Amino acid sequence: MKNLKDKKILLIICGGISAYKSLETIRIFKKNNCEIKTILTKSAKEFITPLSVVSLSQGKVYDDLFNLENETEMDHISLSRWADIILIEPATANTISKLARGSSEDLATTVILASNKPIFLVPAMNVRMWEHPSTKENLRILKKYSYQIIGPEIGEMACGEYGKGKMTEPLLIANKIDEYFSHLKKNRKLKALVTAGPTNEYIDPVRFITNKSSGKQGYEIARSLHKNGFQTTLISGPTNLEIDENIELIKVETAEEMFKATQKNLPVDVAIFSAAVSDFKINKKYNIKIKKKDELIIKLEKNLDILDYVSNHNSMRPKLVIGFAAETNNIEKNSLLKLSNKNCDWIITNDVSKKEIGFNSDLNEVTIYYKNNKKEKLSKKNKSLISDEIVSRINHLIN
Ligand code: CTP
Repeated sequence: MKNLKDKKILLIICGGISAYKSLETIRIFKKNNCEIKTILTKSAKEFITPLSVVSLSQGKVYDDLFNLENETEMDHISLSRWADIILIEPATANTISKLARGSSEDLATTVILASNKPIFLVPAMNVRMWEHPSTKENLRILKKYSYQIIGPEIGEMACGEYGKGKMTEPLLIANKIDEYFSHLKKNRKLKALVTAGPTNEYIDPVRFITNKSSGKQGYEIARSLHKNGFQTTLISGPTNLEIDENIELIKVETAEEMFKATQKNLPVDVAIFSAAVSDFKINKKYNIKIKKKDELIIKLEKNLDILDYVSNHNSMRPKLVIGFAAETNNIEKNSLLKLSNKNCDWIITNDVSKKEIGFNSDLNEVTIYYKNNKKEKLSKKNKSLISDEIVSRINHLIN
């Protein structure tokens, strides 16, 4: 773990049965020459003692928001400014709920609310608590605020039940943080652009032609790029989705607007075209609403291909151009044709004839076709995990 040296880690330990594991996390960070300060919540002290934390971390332990000595030495704002990252481990359902509400009722929540640093959250709880819709909703909110979630894992729990909710092992957590610093160092100067969602092509002021794209995969890719350090711009057609506040979001409606926004945001290092851009627009849009009694004749004309345009303009071609293909038949043949016709480095294809994946689903299964004739299948999983796998391959190639 080469990238942890001299990193300042603010570890927040909450009150859960896995709190004892954070002592092992501290030991690994210390071994890798990190500087550690720790906040223990009130209930964490029921599970581990401040003395054991101090002995292992050789750094200060904080536990009280209104402590005169701490506030003069390092107040709660300076504490969050001091850290390179904040790691919350274990993060209980209660803490997750407080953070989603923006609570500042104790030192831990106040420091987090005041923080401008990356926050890593390591949930640990009973499987039913993890699966409860309110926990899911809280995590959705925290994801929107760019919290990076590590785990939980599937396994047997302290309460004797089996399922998802077990805290990720300390070594794996430390590896994730090390990987984060490694990518950050390399990617900080790199720009990425993602197109996502459908486009609307207007017939008259109230009617338009569109498609079934939800934009979910593109939004998750933007999220993964951002958390890997890329300066990320997301150009999105109409969707119901939200994105992290640190990602630049440009909302468009038509293919023409998407094209202009893309052009305006070049050059970039990596461009990923996941939008389902309408191939056609209305040749002559009606300026007023068409009435039932009117005779309606719609003539279509081709939209400009944004991906094709970007990948064939040498002066601004990104180092890595990735296209998407949604296919129902002749999948490999069509994908390879798109790869060469659109001059892409990769084409990522999903088979949209399969109901449980693709368009509105949270799951996806894709094949990446590379320029060098190789292909790779990413098996069925959550779209956010597919994105992490795609971005890890981007990291590998671009660095
Ligand atoms: N694309 C684009 N601009 C367009 C049409 C498509 O940028 N006007 C991009 C998509 O974002 C995707 C890739 O091109 O990355 C392939 O899109 P797809 O709709 O699968 O292919 P088409 O080129 O439109 O061909 P067809 O619909 O005939 O399969």
